[in-house]
Amino acid sequence: MTESDDDRLLRTEPVIRTVAMPCDTNPAGDIFGGWLMAQMDLAAATIAVRRARGRCATLAVAGMEFHKPVRVGDEVSLWAELVKSGRTSMTIHVVAYRRPRDQDERHKVTEATFVFVALDADGQKRELPSP
Ligand SMILES: CC(C)(COP(=O)(O)OP(=O)(O)OC[C@H]1O[C@@H](n2cnc3c(N)ncnc32)[C@H](O)[C@@H]1OP(=O)(O)O)[C@@H](O)C(=O)NCCC(=O)NCCS
Repeated sequence: MTESDDDRLLRTEPVIRTVAMPCDTNPAGDIFGGWLMAQMDLAAATIAVRRARGRCATLAVAGMEFHKPVRVGDEVSLWAELVKSGRTSMTIHVVAYRRPRDQDERHKVTEATFVFVALDADGQKRELPSP
């Protein structure tokens, strides 16, 4: 995503805003990357389930790179948007920012592209409804 794409997204409401807690750390006391990945998956799923009007599953994740560490106590905000719809699949871009709770400036932590597939009640892929 370009800088201007990020600027546009950041003017909208984040899909998730949370605070990194001590229970989210790895044995070294740093925020566990898997926790942040789970938050990103949840943010993407929020967009996918709404577009698909029902159950979805994560099929693929591409391009995840951690640019900055998240610290305990940071406010973590996640923005997500649908960038492509296929027959059964949805491509969703997610960006995550951290903001130390006592400061104004936020910093980009990571971004990634998620592919979700719409599922039926039996867990089989299904066609997306019309938007
Ligand atoms: C989701 C699932 C039902 C899809 O079934 P499938 O037969 O493998 O799906 P297909 O190969 O037909 O692909 C389905 C769609 O995803 C797209 N797709 C598949 N692999 C992809 C990839 N690596 N990147 C991008 N898109 C991909 C296909 O192009 C297709 O899109 P379209 O229908 O919009 O044209 C099946 O893979 C599954 O159950 N996976 C496990 C999901 C899961 O448990 N996730 C959580 C893990 S903890």
